[in-house]
Amino acid sequence: MSRSLRLLLVGCGLMGLRHIQGLHEVRRHGLFDVQLAGVVDKLPERAGEAAEAAERLLGERPKAFNELDTALSSLQIDAADICTEPASHNIVAEPLLEAGVSCIVEKPLSMTVRGCRRILDAAGRGGATLAVAENYRRDPANRLAKFVIEGGGLGRWLNALQIVIGGGDAVLLTPWRHRATGGILIDLLCHYTDIFNYYFGSPRRVSAFSTLLRKLRIARTLNGESVRRSEIEAEAEDYLNATLHHEEGGVCNLLANLAASGEGLWRRIVFLENGSLEIPMERTGQSVKISKPLDSDYLSLKPHTLFLGQRPGEPYRVSPQAAAEIYDRDTRTVFPDLLNGYRMDFWEADRKLIALELADFFRCLENGVSPETGGWEGTVAVAIVAAALESSFSGRIVELEDVLELRVEAYQARINQALGLI
Ligand SMILES: NC(=O)c1ccc[n+]([C@@H]2O[C@H](COP(=O)([O-])OP(=O)(O)OC[C@H]3O[C@@H](n4cnc5c(N)ncnc54)[C@H](O)[C@@H]3O)[C@@H](O)[C@H]2O)c1
Repeated sequence: MSRSLRLLLVGCGLMGLRHIQGLHEVRRHGLFDVQLAGVVDKLPERAGEAAEAAERLLGERPKAFNELDTALSSLQIDAADICTEPASHNIVAEPLLEAGVSCIVEKPLSMTVRGCRRILDAAGRGGATLAVAENYRRDPANRLAKFVIEGGGLGRWLNALQIVIGGGDAVLLTPWRHRATGGILIDLLCHYTDIFNYYFGSPRRVSAFSTLLRKLRIARTLNGESVRRSEIEAEAEDYLNATLHHEEGGVCNLLANLAASGEGLWRRIVFLENGSLEIPMERTGQSVKISKPLDSDYLSLKPHTLFLGQRPGEPYRVSPQAAAEIYDRDTRTVFPDLLNGYRMDFWEADRKLIALELADFFRCLENGVSPETGGWEGTVAVAIVAAALESSFSGRIVELEDVLELRVEAYQARINQALGLI
């Protein structure tokens, strides 16, 4: 592309503003020549706030709109970046893609597999490129973990565990995440199913139990010295315990309790034949840790420690030469001197990961290749969580293929209905 790529941002809430930070990072590091031509939000104050943030960070003020159609008739754009809440992804993405406008859509691609497939079909009909904004897998820790898992030094993978427990009684970021059509489990856990998919490929079958533990959620705001509390009723499940069965024998466990008050727990660990790999939470910059027990570790165990592991993990050593093999050029550009882990706050890491996913999408438009996380990868990430919810709903083990091919969608039926997807 000999001129700047002209981008339209649709949805200027929490994530829309973070994408503007990501665009700043793309330009600051010279990853791609992109211009934010316009911003759209149905709430005028949000569109205005985004235009201001963009002017401050990017040096030019994009035009602000409250309706997508007005933006499209007023601007020449090359692509759209969709950051509206998931229940609206179909309404926003389908007509754009159908009209041939390439889009990057925030995860989850849609709230149901049927919704995802409709977006995929629209992209096919319009001949447009579709990417899903999956930032977690771009954290260097996940690049390193995949490299070690595939490297074979620890043998075949047997089991992986992802635990996320916390949330308390709080409204989790926004009220829509507690509505049946917005569901926090699909919204959050598609990140983790994408990570499992990235490490190991897709599971064959899924079995799960899911429920709604807390029917009331509290939004707390500071009012001078006092805390104002307002209650909302939750409809969407906040607990899931899922087992993902892989064809070649490996098993992934995904445990989410987003209603737990008090002490929280987050852990991701992969157990392989000859040791384990512990992966830190995205955007913390902590190191990936490896534990590779020796015969002497086993011999020194006592009966009561036999079941508790043989050796504590220690940071996996990465040499500068290995780093060049593990991390792609963009990753090494935005995280300079990267070996294992990085030191920066959440927000700095967040905008770098967003920059990486955006730069990948822009390059695909320029070179006519497929994005790392395209519509299909985004669909599979949603389908694994959907399969877990279908399994809990039916009380049976569910084949992922049946969920992807829409042969099993009884749980999702009321969401499809409410979103007008059938
Ligand atoms: N990757 C991540 O780390 C991450 C983190 C947070 C959110 N997200 C994703 O980003 C998306 C947005 O989440 P959020 O937390 O920013 O939500 P939000 O509610 O803060 O913002 C959504 C915005 O979209 C606007 N909107 C809705 N429908 C619209 C339409 N038809 N036209 C124009 N504007 C419209 C709303 O007015 C709102 O301002 C979701 O898909 C969410 O899952 C991703």
